[in-house]
Amino acid sequence: MNPIPAVEAIPSGIVSLADHEQHARGRLDDNAWAYFAGGAGDEITLRANRAAWDDIRLSTRVLRRLAGGHTRVQLLGRTLAHPVLLAPVAFQRLAHADGEIASAYAAAMQGAGLVLSSQSSLPLEQVAQAALGEATRGPLWFQLYFQHDRDFTRELVQRAERAGYEALVVTVDASSSGARDRERRAGFRLPAGISAVNLQGLPPAAPIALAAHQSRMFDGLLAHAPDWSDIEWLRSVTGLPVILKGITHPEDARIAVAAGAAAIIVSNHGGRTLDTMPATAALLPRVRSAVGAGYPVLVDGGIRRGTDVLKAIALGANAVLVGRPYVFGLANAGAMGVSHVLRLLRDELEIAMALCGCATLAEAGPDILFS
Ligand code: FNR
Repeated sequence: MNPIPAVEAIPSGIVSLADHEQHARGRLDDNAWAYFAGGAGDEITLRANRAAWDDIRLSTRVLRRLAGGHTRVQLLGRTLAHPVLLAPVAFQRLAHADGEIASAYAAAMQGAGLVLSSQSSLPLEQVAQAALGEATRGPLWFQLYFQHDRDFTRELVQRAERAGYEALVVTVDASSSGARDRERRAGFRLPAGISAVNLQGLPPAAPIALAAHQSRMFDGLLAHAPDWSDIEWLRSVTGLPVILKGITHPEDARIAVAAGAAAIIVSNHGGRTLDTMPATAALLPRVRSAVGAGYPVLVDGGIRRGTDVLKAIALGANAVLVGRPYVFGLANAGAMGVSHVLRLLRDELEIAMALCGCATLAEAGPDILFS
């Protein structure tokens, strides 16, 4: 049994996710700040994610009957209290000693879904326990990076199944990590005692002797990279739904549906992989129209306000994920900080729905977007 994370007060004056971010800057050292806040290259995509939500305007409607309204949505056969999930973010003990357990506990208390990173800094079983006992909890999913050793990958999947995770979120957009200049400038390194504990025991990849004309990227790193046939393999070794995270091209979205993915997440990894990719708010409508209505599509990247959540739903998402904001909440006040971030988003979402005249999210269609 895990101890319930410590109850900490929310520092005064924090009333928004932006306030959490600003406050967290003073709580995190330069090393952790570069890791959590940074993006790839010139951070053009990182900024574009935010700017794109800001640039969409909402239309209000008045005097509609809103009594009895709610934020509930249906996703993969269950009813969620609201459409916000915590995105997989690695190494959360860099932000707070309670790490992923605090995030899981807060998500469960706030009815939010949780996606645990393969690179969690705490054992996946302990994190699951923090969420599973709460009646209010949302979905519990495990994010999977294919490892070069398929036996190890299968065992990791089986561990996640045994621990109670209900879906696998395969991140497909990080075959190489981005050029993270901010991290390199800060000389980012994981401090002693923080590591990807669930990947312990992974046998080292057999060294590949590269000839002079070969590339470290294509003949080295990518020699073990998964392709569509690995999605088929994964579906053959697990009964869990497989969700693909990092789909942005409409054609890949169609292939994902045909490959049996239960859902897709439109994501540019929070601007951490390929810099100059478009904002996810711009990519989402194209992906939605490629897969048609009715297929579950989630989105993340730059969501910082309840109005952003409503805009995402209006552009065709069934639910959204947030990454950095809850890690900043975690840094500020542990589980209470994560809980606060989720509560702020939900309150803001309800305000935005009311002012746009939407009693339910099913009513939040493109007509609430001003164009
Ligand atoms: C991530 N993200 C991520 N994604 C993933 O699939 N596995 C992972 O381990 C991580 N790790 C990670 C670490 C850090 C520090 C960040 C900021 C992000 C990406 C994450 O799931 C999500 O796609 C973005 O964070 C969403 O963008 P916002 O909400 O941070 O703007």
